[in-house]
Amino acid sequence: MRAFHDKTIMITGGAGFIGSAVVRYLVGDARCRIVNVDKLTYAGNLDSIAEARGRDNHHFEQVDIGDQDALTRLFEKYRPDIVMHLAAESHVDRSIHGPADFIATNIVGTYTLLEAARRYWQDLSEHERDRFRLQHESTDEVYGDLQADEPAFTEATAYAPSSPYSASKASSDHLVRAWHRTYGLPVLITNCSNNYGPCQFPEKLIPLMILNALENRKLPVYGSGDNVRDWLYVEDHAKALCTIAAHGKVGRTYNIGGRSERTNLDVVQSLCGLLDRLSPRPSGSYATLIEFVSDRPGHDKRYAIDDTRLSSELGWAPEETFESGLEKTVRWYLDNETWVNRVRSGEYREWLAVNYDQRSATE
Ligand code: NAD
Ligand code: TYD
Repeated sequence: MRAFHDKTIMITGGAGFIGSAVVRYLVGDARCRIVNVDKLTYAGNLDSIAEARGRDNHHFEQVDIGDQDALTRLFEKYRPDIVMHLAAESHVDRSIHGPADFIATNIVGTYTLLEAARRYWQDLSEHERDRFRLQHESTDEVYGDLQADEPAFTEATAYAPSSPYSASKASSDHLVRAWHRTYGLPVLITNCSNNYGPCQFPEKLIPLMILNALENRKLPVYGSGDNVRDWLYVEDHAKALCTIAAHGKVGRTYNIGGRSERTNLDVVQSLCGLLDRLSPRPSGSYATLIEFVSDRPGHDKRYAIDDTRLSSELGWAPEETFESGLEKTVRWYLDNETWVNRVRSGEYREWLAVNYDQRSATE
């Protein structure tokens, strides 16, 4: 990325699913310096950034974004030009079981980061202040949900979050906007649809189904499987985030989507078809493992993104189709046994017991 040459980019949550994709995308360019700030919760994984960690232009700092003193030290030590803020608690089901961490990291943590950034930014020279950016990564879930015939979310859609997760992300978006309007902090906000791809923790739909299938476990589809999500391949998302950080207009929000709306049942059936081809099961199609289970409380019906602003102003478009991206994803999980086996231990097993043991089959 030429726009980032000789710049220092601080990425929070850079050991997570999307953050690590951004790190992998940027770190290959020796003229960008990456400062990766991550607390390493259950979702942070050093294996996802193993290659980056061997490079001189990547600096890993295990820090909680709620720790103001530690953040202040990092700003002083590295003097970033750009902050890309991806650290968050990110899973809706976990937010239903235990919202406290979502309030602490997504709301208070974002506030703490904004304050540390503001203090650092205020003391910069005028030239440095002008080029500084703090880009906050958010979700389309802040807009609530849509019925089948409603138009897709635009940047002007009113906020109506449904879950503790989306409410915490909505709160953080409001804080970021307020820090721009009140203090002039140069921010950008992005609201993206569902991501999938390599290195996603197997609590989310796609990797959970792949790993369950490969272990001959049931494939638990919530409700009747007709909820719709818009899917974006994570590397396309990483490119969108870099494009926006480099060329986006300060103070603006950009919706990012995959132009691939699918029902959950369609997604699970497509995965079964791919696995039948790439890793056939002697006892018959993986689709026989599909089981409809009791629904998620408050389950959003449909998300859809209108990305006109991003595509027309900044020329971004996803490169992968859902079919090409899904095949790459399944192949990645089949080919990366070490990553998968390590993730499958401990915390992941505990989560399966918490979220699925109580769910009854509905058919
Ligand atoms: P993830 O759960 O895979 O990773 C989150 C990362 O943040 C982990 O590495 C974790 O260790 C780190 N982290 C958590 N709490 C922290 C704290 N207090 N201090 C420092 N680091 C902390 O999440 P993801 O899927 O990569 O999502 C990244 C961002 O993108 C989040 O803001 C999420 O809301 C947003 N988003 C995700 C999706 C999606 O489909 N995954 C879609 C739209 C938006
Ligand atoms: P998820 O990956 O948790 O993302 P989000 O809730 O942020 O959209 O879930 C995607 C969809 O898949 C959502 O409609 C819930 C559904 N789902 C299941 O049907 N079964 C599962 O085991 C999981 C984790 C999700």
